[in-house]
Amino acid sequence: MANKLGILLSGRGSNFLAIADNVAVGKIPAEIAVVISNKPYAPGIQAAEQRGLNAHVILGKGLARVEHDAAIVACLREHRVDLVCLAGYMRLLSPVFLEAFPQRVLNIHPSLLPAFPGLDAQKQALEYGSRITGCTVHFVDEHLDHGVIVTQRSVAVLPDDDEHSLSARILEQEHIAYSEAISMVLSGEYEVQGRRYLRKSR
Ligand code: GRF
Repeated sequence: MANKLGILLSGRGSNFLAIADNVAVGKIPAEIAVVISNKPYAPGIQAAEQRGLNAHVILGKGLARVEHDAAIVACLREHRVDLVCLAGYMRLLSPVFLEAFPQRVLNIHPSLLPAFPGLDAQKQALEYGSRITGCTVHFVDEHLDHGVIVTQRSVAVLPDDDEHSLSARILEQEHIAYSEAISMVLSGEYEVQGRRYLRKSR
């Protein structure tokens, strides 16, 4: 796989910035070809502009999901993106999108999947009484927070944790995990075997 990344975000953009920092110092052998937000005032897209990256807002409002996804796919193709990274992108992708980038879309989720998919995963872990949670980077498939797992990092739930403190410690691990996962995918050394992402046998 070549090495042009497309980032999709909807908000803060701290995962995007961690990726961008690792690209800048050569830890990820790639370039960020384009950053796309579906929200005009997302801090993440403003940060992308400030860094001089190609930054586009593609609003979903008033469009069917398929139309919105087609517009995003067109933009990603225009920038010759090889690997799409969802970084706090708060919309589900339609099959149109996934067919355009088969096994080429990554997402990060703040729990150890398959535990606690969906919204407020950190709160779900606290309320369930989990002693360990973490984050997962996975390929996106047609089901929510479900595709093949690329990497995971664990985080202990401490007795005095609240949603805020736990989320902050998970986020630190997210920033490491996402870059690791991107490097793994771009290395070409791994392949999907069933549900597992394993080093290719020579
Ligand atoms: C992260 O917790 C990520 O796991 C989830 O959305 C949040 C995005 O945070 N999918 P940020 O915008 O990258 O700071």
